Amino acid sequence: MLSSKASCNSHGQDSSYFHGWQVYEKNPFDEVENPTGIIQMGLAENQLSFDLVESWLRKNPNAVGMKNKDGESVLRDLALFQDYHGMPAFKNELAEYMEKIRGNKVKFDPNKLVLAAGATSANETLIFCLADPGEAILLPTPYYPGFDRDLRWRTGVKIVPIHCSSSNGFRISMFALEEAYERAQKLNLKVKGVLITNPSNPLGTTMTKDELQNLVTFAIDKNIHLISDEVFSGTVFDSPCFISIIEAALMDNKLKDNTDVLSRIHIVYSLSKDLGLPGFRVGMIYSNNQTVVAAATKMSSFGLVSSQTQFLLSCMLANKKFTSKYMKQNQKRLKKRKEMLVSGLKKSGINCLKSNAGLFCWVDMRNLLSSNTFEAETDLWKNMLCEVRLNISPGSSCHCSEPGWFRVCFANMNQSTLLVAMRRINDFAERSSFNYQQNMGGFNRRLPNNWVRKLSSADHREEQKRY
Ligand SMILES: Cc1ncc(COP(=O)(O)O)c(C=O)c1O
Repeated sequence: MLSSKASCNSHGQDSSYFHGWQVYEKNPFDEVENPTGIIQMGLAENQLSFDLVESWLRKNPNAVGMKNKDGESVLRDLALFQDYHGMPAFKNELAEYMEKIRGNKVKFDPNKLVLAAGATSANETLIFCLADPGEAILLPTPYYPGFDRDLRWRTGVKIVPIHCSSSNGFRISMFALEEAYERAQKLNLKVKGVLITNPSNPLGTTMTKDELQNLVTFAIDKNIHLISDEVFSGTVFDSPCFISIIEAALMDNKLKDNTDVLSRIHIVYSLSKDLGLPGFRVGMIYSNNQTVVAAATKMSSFGLVSSQTQFLLSCMLANKKFTSKYMKQNQKRLKKRKEMLVSGLKKSGINCLKSNAGLFCWVDMRNLLSSNTFEAETDLWKNMLCEVRLNISPGSSCHCSEPGWFRVCFANMNQSTLLVAMRRINDFAERSSFNYQQNMGGFNRRLPNNWVRKLSSADHREEQKRY
């Protein structure tokens, strides 16, 4: 009765990443109303700098009231027909903001920028432009769980994982790249591109100039595209500083003058993470490839950014004093939060991958597994959710090839909630080590409730079935 798209299950919603959210929704933590509830640490949201945005809004009522600098209403301009090119004033400000985040080392031409309803829509649109159903995109693991939906579900494109490992801090090696490419070929899949997240979700790390240039060279050798999702570029709070893929390409004299190089590099960005505005749905594609820009612009009809939002944000981004202050303060707050999480976990004997960006840490919980398996990882995740009452995302939901790693978010809550979370983990780690010492064959875990028991280690089984 229904289309194959409506009834297929490649959306990825069966992942423990999304299941964790559902369990959280049934019993959300609140310091006063529900202090024993679940703390949400599986959502990469940035709530640390809302006060700065709110303060700006209070001082700029015209932007909210849809009035221009002279106090005249612009309602008609905003409410009537919007074509798919977006508002020039907004695109100019956005291009400048992206330049500022990159230390003004890269120039962005607003005419090469296509607006989309968030990076979710931008990534899908780009895949629609670059690949046909059945063709493949290489994606380093661990990766953002939403990519199964964004890159694969409606486009019919295949994701071929580039398996990265803890042995080199999950960095993308040339060996892993070549291996993924060959694996795709053996499966008769035509590879159309590589997609990276820089800074990485879920690792919270930035890529080096050499790594980026190697990727560009790989893309040229294989005659494929290179997509860099840079939605976390403004969250880099520690050295080394952020290097955008375009900057890395332009730093190499061989690559610089080759127009073909730039036409295969595409950037995805949004204001969801850097400005903490995921509900506003503002994303974009930046490409030097005119055909991609033209096709993506036409496709953007299906996910435009409302004119009201564009107007408000063009006023906000035009205020350079505000954007400078916001970027500085926000990065400072993120750094402090990340350090709180890292030191809190360390006290419980848990280490994190060294990171310098993002709204999360990639946490090594291998010493809490009862065995080195994905089944044990799922057991630990269920325990964390139902017993410790923390929703964190297991590595298997990010398609990590090694069990025992978890993504833990730190910027979507207030500081006192983070301290409660740390206390809970600490108690749990102490109980676990006590149970180990009692030689009970792993930690003695209470069985999770039926609802959660149904949440299987489906993520990993699904992965094994695929590639
Ligand atoms: C790497 C990455 N890309 C894209 C998105 C989607 O962002 P948006 O809210 O702008 O659609 C996310 C959200 O978490 C993300 O982590």
